[in-house]
Amino acid sequence: MDRRKFLTYMGTGAAALTVASTGLGAFAETAAAKSHMFENKKKVSGLNFKPIAPSAKDDVVLPSGYKYDVVVAYGDVINKNGDTFGFNSDYTCYFPINDSSQEGLLWVNHEYTSQLFVQGAKKNDKYTNKQIEKILYNQGGSVIKVHYVDGKWKMDTTSKYARRISGLTPFLLTGAVRGSKAVSGATKVQGTFANCSGGKTLWNTLLSCEENYEYTARDAGLDETHYGWVIEVDPFDDKFSVRKHTALGRFHHENAAMGLTNDGRVVVYMGDDKRDACIYKFISKDKYVASRGTNNSKLLEEGTLYVANLGKGRWEPMTIENVREAIKDDKELLAKFQTQADVLVYADEAAKFIGGTPTDRPEDLEISPFDKSVFVAHTNNSSHGNFHGHITRLFEDKDDLGSLTFNFEIFAAGGRQSGFSAPDNLTFDSSGNLWTVTDISSSKHNKGIYESFKNNGMFVIPTTGENMGNAYQFASGPVESELTGPSFTPTETSLFLSVQHPGEESESLTKLTSKWPHRTGDNMPRPGVIAITGF
Ligand code: FEO
Ligand code: CA
Ligand code: CA
Repeated sequence: MDRRKFLTYMGTGAAALTVASTGLGAFAETAAAKSHMFENKKKVSGLNFKPIAPSAKDDVVLPSGYKYDVVVAYGDVINKNGDTFGFNSDYTCYFPINDSSQEGLLWVNHEYTSQLFVQGAKKNDKYTNKQIEKILYNQGGSVIKVHYVDGKWKMDTTSKYARRISGLTPFLLTGAVRGSKAVSGATKVQGTFANCSGGKTLWNTLLSCEENYEYTARDAGLDETHYGWVIEVDPFDDKFSVRKHTALGRFHHENAAMGLTNDGRVVVYMGDDKRDACIYKFISKDKYVASRGTNNSKLLEEGTLYVANLGKGRWEPMTIENVREAIKDDKELLAKFQTQADVLVYADEAAKFIGGTPTDRPEDLEISPFDKSVFVAHTNNSSHGNFHGHITRLFEDKDDLGSLTFNFEIFAAGGRQSGFSAPDNLTFDSSGNLWTVTDISSSKHNKGIYESFKNNGMFVIPTTGENMGNAYQFASGPVESELTGPSFTPTETSLFLSVQHPGEESESLTKLTSKWPHRTGDNMPRPGVIAITGF
């Protein structure tokens, strides 16, 4: 173990991690110049924090010098209409107003609700209509206005932009599935739910991903084929019809990371958060034209969906021809897969027929803005003995996101040796560091093989230089929570982060395991969004 690593683990005063001093700063400068993602971004001087130790405290614990403000929590009124912030906040995405890093809109996903804290139901209760409405309303997403005033991040409820998109909002379907038999002819569907992570488009709209949709669809008696899609919303324009892009396939979508091929077409990388599930990418038929603004949304309606065959290092096109060729001896399957719409609706099934590699719960995928390698968080897969997960790094041939061949390596592995377990959402800073949050199931915290990790946390992992692949803990979440959806402001002076499901294992309202965010008058834990400052 080298001296730097040793001191870091020892937690001495000398252990502050200074990435800038490793030469990473210089690298980042040249790389950032080449990258379209960070064109307008001022590079920060480098990280400088003393990593924290794992913690079981019922709070968000940060390194010394950093602090957090609670911006919004479940149930808070977000606008003048009295709309309220949904439950289990997840992905966050900051949209600056006039390029400001102190005033902007924040999109926040709401992933699922809670029997105890939202429905107010007991186990095995049959839900009333009112409870079903609550389940639907408290999922989806929120657009809120945020600003930094008097040294604090706050929500501005007077904003004309603040609104809710929920399980009750009407959506358009786009792409080959629209109006097809596979969705019983639907061109419009009701609502979005199970919104896990997402992504920002090159034209400044928002993609949000429907993940474990089955529970809510069943509870509400809705058609399951209408969920499990990637949706698009323009936070600045409520006239932009919210839509589901079926060309991106239907599965347990985690996130959607957008980039460009070398010839200017749009690429979207996506993971399917399920055990033994595949990695996908979509490439648009036409090229991106910046001046078209949000009309570029059309690019997500036509193109090719590919699935990764890791053994062959190949992206396999998910066309109806390829799928039918692969199942040509199976009459039952041939009856199910007749059109491209069938392939898209049952994408996870079709992927396996044509050689898609089953992997260990692929959650977030992110494109490195520096070298265009693609990072994939594989959270874990107990059925493969992979209890702590790993992060894979894909290298597309010729550094072209449009390549149909690639190679890969294991970038970092979860476990006691690295200090993290169950990597989930990923994001980059402009110094080339990968930030990851962890998702150890609440029921396993502080127990057995997960004991040393304590509560879920957030880690920083340099992707180049001498500390490459080493994880440094930056935050620890409240009891039974998961930190989700980190997003920086453009100047990287603030980081938004969701605190999801604190106190999730509470048995009753009188036996609470967490009371985060500990606001005066609160009688239960509330998922919410914090803003971290001190960078
Ligand atoms: Fe919703 Fe894949 O975590
Ligand atoms: Ca997630
Ligand atoms: Ca997760």
